[in-house]
Amino acid sequence: MADLKQIQDWNNKFADASPEEILAFFLAEFSEKIALSTSLGLEDQVLTYMVHSIHPGTKIFTLDTGRLFPEAYDLIDRTSRKYKMHIQVYFPDREEVEQMVAEKGINLFYDSIENRKQCCGIRKLKPLARALSELDAWITGLRRDQSVTRNDVNVVEWDELNGLIKINPLIEWNEKNVWDYIHQHNIPFNPLHKKGFASIGCQPCTRAILEGEDIRAGRWWWENPDTKECGLHQK
Ligand code: ADX
Ligand code: SF4
Repeated sequence: MADLKQIQDWNNKFADASPEEILAFFLAEFSEKIALSTSLGLEDQVLTYMVHSIHPGTKIFTLDTGRLFPEAYDLIDRTSRKYKMHIQVYFPDREEVEQMVAEKGINLFYDSIENRKQCCGIRKLKPLARALSELDAWITGLRRDQSVTRNDVNVVEWDELNGLIKINPLIEWNEKNVWDYIHQHNIPFNPLHKKGFASIGCQPCTRAILEGEDIRAGRWWWENPDTKECGLHQK
């Protein structure tokens, strides 16, 4: 059950806290009932490093949609080896994917928002729900300045869809903060970030951005900015 008063108190308490302070508190508070959800993006690489440094052994998982860039798979491997840690990989349900593809085609997402949401639902949302089912809290790499859809997100949120607490330690950080931290700590990152890919999701739904374009302009680029959430982060 959502304890909105408790969430508000935590948001007041951590209003000026660093990501490390936020993580140290919540990793202790929820111990084996908390996990980091990583897309292998820059922010998540920062959080992987922090979580692993503060509390090695914390569950870190990723959702393999089956449509990721090869660079993402390499990064799962490089990161696990470098930090001698395990990144748990969740896959979508085989039958659901096969049925969707049989009915609507392999690249159904370009045909309509409805199709795109169906694909994200089967390939991301359902595996996420499975990953979260045993947890009381999950950690994400959301930043407020990533998108108009994320302007009012707080450090601590109630995730209504999945029925648990969501912690966003980097919510106040900007892109420069993220890059500075990556370089300071020599953290491995996806080489596509140096080729114009600011925000990286599935390969067919992500393109490089041009100079001056919004950082999420390359995600589902054929859609309106207001609809560009796959549902992982709906309130
Ligand atoms: S998305 O909803 O548009 O795909 P985005 O790529 O900005 O999300 O990532 C925001 C946060 O969602 C990440 O920091 C991560 O916590 C989580 N996330 C996104 N994609 C995945 C994934 N494939 N596996 C695990 N977590 C993910
Ligand atoms: Fe499917 Fe594209 Fe969503 Fe990936 S981002 S799950 S390929 S619609």
